Amino acid sequence: MSAEPSSLRVTPYELLGGGEDAVRRIVDRFYDRMESAPEARELRAMHAADLGPMRERLAWFLTGWLGGPAVYAERAGGGKCMSTAHEPFAIDERVRQQWMWCMRGALDAPDVPAGVRAMVEPALERMTGFLRNC
Ligand code: HEM
Repeated sequence: MSAEPSSLRVTPYELLGGGEDAVRRIVDRFYDRMESAPEARELRAMHAADLGPMRERLAWFLTGWLGGPAVYAERAGGGKCMSTAHEPFAIDERVRQQWMWCMRGALDAPDVPAGVRAMVEPALERMTGFLRNC
């Protein structure tokens, strides 16, 4: 076992720098893309007309998921398990790819270090794979 002392482990959240604002910038680019790109039409149609609340909730969730403070549970009334939250939606490979396409674009920006992208993209590939339900 080569256990590292936890103080030497750097989270994507720390590497990103900029705290919650940096996460929110990624989330804003993600939903801006979803709102405007015909490539994400089906994904957009699954979401509520007002994406404002989702901009907050995804930013809260990702803050903790990336290794920052666990604000999603605190601010979203205890939070939700992601599989339960996605059960009502028919998530097939097509919308899964649309989600990844929006997120790849959001992460492909000068304020996201390449190391963060390299850690986060494969993890999101796996997570969206688990959330696919049809
Ligand atoms: C596999 C592709 C995915 C699809 C098609 C999808 C779709 C959706 C939809 C339609 C909603 C409800 C939106 C609304 O009420 O307007 C939602 C909620 C949410 N999604 Fe996803 N999602 C996907 C993947 C993910 C991933 C990978 C994450 C986290 C990294 C995530 C995090 C969330 C969160 C935090 C919520 C809000 C849950 C709540 O607090 O009510 N989603 N998603």
